[in-house]
Amino acid sequence: MARRKLVAGNWKMNGDLAALAEIDAIAAAAVANPAVDVGIGVPATLIGPAHARAPRLAIGAEDVHAVDHGAFTGSISAPMVREAGASFAIVGHSERRAGCGETDADVKAKAEALLRHGLAAILCVGETSDQRNAGKAVATVTGQVRASMPWGAASGWLSVAYEPIWAIGSGHTPTLEQISAMHGAIRAMLTELLGADAASMRVLYGGSVTAENATELLGGPDVDGALVGGASLTAAKFVPIIEAAAALT
Ligand code: 13P
Repeated sequence: MARRKLVAGNWKMNGDLAALAEIDAIAAAAVANPAVDVGIGVPATLIGPAHARAPRLAIGAEDVHAVDHGAFTGSISAPMVREAGASFAIVGHSERRAGCGETDADVKAKAEALLRHGLAAILCVGETSDQRNAGKAVATVTGQVRASMPWGAASGWLSVAYEPIWAIGSGHTPTLEQISAMHGAIRAMLTELLGADAASMRVLYGGSVTAENATELLGGPDVDGALVGGASLTAAKFVPIIEAAAALT
């Protein structure tokens, strides 16, 4: 089935109120390219101001806690980010899996929290270079998909982002063959888990996506969009990626 492409940014721990000026041109590009879905994940402090500034642009959180409220100092929950103006959240990013010890079970619980509160999810998976060199990339990634897929994941509300850890922020990208093979394996796993409902789920690629390589990377079979880190921080770098995705539709 034809799936709309999604180009999502992930600002990570970058950005301040002044940086929200970038949101204006990104929101304008989203309106100008209606064939593509566009979203920006921002630090929690910027969700409210970004949503106020660009109410029609999908603003996302970069993480949520799995439970709604309680004694979890420093954490932010799905209903909290929704109230602030988020319409989606990223869960399971490799920087949180590695840096904060998040397990597949944690990621699954977080995605379930998003579903409970009507937020879309971008669920990240990806292998290390050691795992790839050992021939374990597909097994690692499909294992993450199986173990972190939430109950009730039935339609377009959840996207999987394949982000090889070695490609993030490195300027290195997998070959098109490697991306196609992995996206095909992810889609096969989604179909095994969800049956026909998997057909509407998007599988995004992330890791050193730029304006220069977007057309090539987003044009591959089974690539339904991109999750973009560094190149999402400015409209000058991000808007051409949105336009490249639109040109492929
Ligand atoms: P870069 O685009 O900076 O490589 O980051 C990718 C990423 O981690 C997006 O979530």
